Amino acid sequence: MKISVIGLGYLGVTHAVAMATLGHEVIGIEPDQNKVTSLQNGTVPFYEPGLTDALAKAIAAGNISFQQQHDDKSASANIHFITVGTPQSDANQAADTSFVFAAATELAAILKPDSLVVGKSTVPVGTAANLIQTMESISGFTPAVCWNPEFLREGTALADSLKPDRIVIGSNEKPMNQPLIDCYEEILSQGVPLLEMDLATAELVKVSANAFLATKISFINAMAEIAEASGADTVMLAEAIGLDNRIGKSFLRTGIGFGGGCLPKDIRGFIARANEMGVGSSLSFLTEVDQINLRRRQRVVDLASQELGALKGKTIAMLGISFKPDSDDLRDSPALEIALKLHSSGATVKVHDPISLEALTDKHPDLTTASSAIDTCSDADLVILGTEWRQYKELAPETLFPKTKTIIDGRNVLDVETWQAAGWKVIALGRNIQNG
Ligand code: UGA
Repeated sequence: MKISVIGLGYLGVTHAVAMATLGHEVIGIEPDQNKVTSLQNGTVPFYEPGLTDALAKAIAAGNISFQQQHDDKSASANIHFITVGTPQSDANQAADTSFVFAAATELAAILKPDSLVVGKSTVPVGTAANLIQTMESISGFTPAVCWNPEFLREGTALADSLKPDRIVIGSNEKPMNQPLIDCYEEILSQGVPLLEMDLATAELVKVSANAFLATKISFINAMAEIAEASGADTVMLAEAIGLDNRIGKSFLRTGIGFGGGCLPKDIRGFIARANEMGVGSSLSFLTEVDQINLRRRQRVVDLASQELGALKGKTIAMLGISFKPDSDDLRDSPALEIALKLHSSGATVKVHDPISLEALTDKHPDLTTASSAIDTCSDADLVILGTEWRQYKELAPETLFPKTKTIIDGRNVLDVETWQAAGWKVIALGRNIQNG
């Protein structure tokens, strides 16, 4: 099938490459000339395992290309996917849908009546209905619009796109969905469940899924606060409650909490939308979910102060700065916020991260970087593990030579006995660790 993918950020690039991998003829559209050039040359403008190789294959096969604007070729696509970002508005924390409407407005001017428009961006409920009206006023006909939320996770994005847990399609009439079902035929033939529903429900599925995941993480981090006050251990608690199938083990890893470009902004946008609709009290618990999450960051700063006294003049090593491993995304990263808070309290923060240092230096040149985990920790008064990259989990503690052998495990991934046996004091969030 002929496909256009409008908006080449994280979601758009991954989706474009995934569709090309399925054998479709893909045109990616993105106003930023630098991104277009970079993608044409086979360079993915962010880190995502496997994506560069898949892009190279698609380029070699001749079924992907990139351009700044629509042309006759892109206008003749069977399906136009809208994959632009919906960032958090500064004013009221709502999702800013202006890029979605801008993309749809441009598309409406060249849209053919037999093409299908598919929204994949995460939007407030009700957006698709407004979008149809906006497009109709430009194109002169009622466009066929589906909403098809994306559930990919950074770090496993391509695999998540090609083998998702489910495909959700929202539309005003089921027959409208058929071209999209045909487009995903290879994925659906693997037994991936297809759920067809109305537009509003499809929009809500995405934000409510992210709200539920955020709530799970903040639930276990609230238990961490209780555990810290009572001497209990949240890692053991999470294992015990997670064995109940109704609860499940995933997303109960206690630590410095969630970050990234999705969970934090999506819960805030969801709250803003509920307020707009006059049902704010239904989601008031999400404000608490957000607060619990942010308190975990401050907790690490407080623990550092407890250990070091005044932070001014102290050197703190930060292992990992991206919001999660296998990603160079620094948006709302808990590790980054902790590093910045420590820095503004007068500490020298030395950061290592396997792939995010370039992005870090661009945005925060005031933070010191080091070329290896060993260098970062050398002579440090305190070490903090901020992102659970595999190489940190596998670090041999006897290879590190800080001034003081104290580590705060912000992600609860270190083998406490091994570190203690090497002479380290281990502090972890929500745990009652006895250090000798
Ligand atoms: C999230 C969702 O998981 C995806 O399904 C969704 O498609 C995506 O947002 C999106 O809306 O585009 P992602 O932001 O890549 O994906 O990251 P997650 O794997 O959800 O992790 C989010 C944060 O939660 C990370 O900072 C991670 O360290 C933290 N986390 C995760 C915990 O603190 N504890 C856990 O138990 C799990």
